[in-house]
Amino acid sequence: MSAANGERVVLVTGAGRGLGVEIARQLTDAGGTVVVAARDPEAGASTAKELGDRAWPLTLDVTDPASVQAAVEAVDRRHGRLDALVNNAATNFDPGSDPVTEDLSVADGAWRTNVLAPWRLTQAFVPLLRAGSDAVVVNVTSSLGSLTGMGAHSPAYSVSKAGINALTRVFADALTRDGIAVHAVSPGWTATDMGGAGGRPVADGAAGIIDVVRSPASHPSGSFLQDGRHVPW
Ligand SMILES: NC(=O)c1ccc[n+]([C@@H]2O[C@H](COP(=O)([O-])OP(=O)(O)OC[C@H]3O[C@@H](n4cnc5c(N)ncnc54)[C@H](OP(=O)(O)O)[C@@H]3O)[C@@H](O)[C@H]2O)c1
Repeated sequence: MSAANGERVVLVTGAGRGLGVEIARQLTDAGGTVVVAARDPEAGASTAKELGDRAWPLTLDVTDPASVQAAVEAVDRRHGRLDALVNNAATNFDPGSDPVTEDLSVADGAWRTNVLAPWRLTQAFVPLLRAGSDAVVVNVTSSLGSLTGMGAHSPAYSVSKAGINALTRVFADALTRDGIAVHAVSPGWTATDMGGAGGRPVADGAAGIIDVVRSPASHPSGSFLQDGRHVPW
């Protein structure tokens, strides 16, 4: 499988289950070429097989620097560029926790996976994004990361999502010089392992992310969006 001229080459992290699978599916349906990056090789292979020729699996633990470097090299060998990096993988949603008594290893894990990992990935993929066209980094965030109205709900997760929002602003500014857009996009409450029952269908949660991957210039770089609408920081 290779990317034909004009196709967008997109890497999606956490694409072995949940929203990551659906994001990859909608991107391939739209004609994109998708690097299905998953920590579990079997899950990544299964997603890529299901999606067909436009998808290929890549084993990637976003918290492991060696794994990130190997991912960059694999994408470089195959495509020589990246048009969109979707930092979707996340962990340690902690509803019901009290920030006063929280086990800080939960906060540490949330910080490493939800903030430092997208930071590392963005750093690592900048050279390939520079070679891309209409390039964009999409940081999958949450309305719980909005400081406006933030309370004690899911403290480790909320703080980490405020962190990825800050990362979005910092990199949007830094990458302006390279013409690379950076956005934070929330899928809304979605029925996945993380979101649980009662959330919206994954197809709806993924749709707003796909729009930003396909048309990053529709909003000023450094936007915080859900379903195409701006969310208060
Ligand atoms: N669901 C919601 O209601 C909701 C709402 C707002 C925002 N979001 C955001 O949407 C994104 C996707 O969430 P989801 O609902 O699909 O969550 P999910 O079902 O819990 O899936 C999380 C994904 O992240 C991956 N992941 C975790 N740590 C990883 C690591 N170190 N390396 C590589 N992959 C790792 C998991 O891989 P494994 O299978 O290997 O664990 C899994 O594929 C997240 O950024 C989340 O914060 C979700």
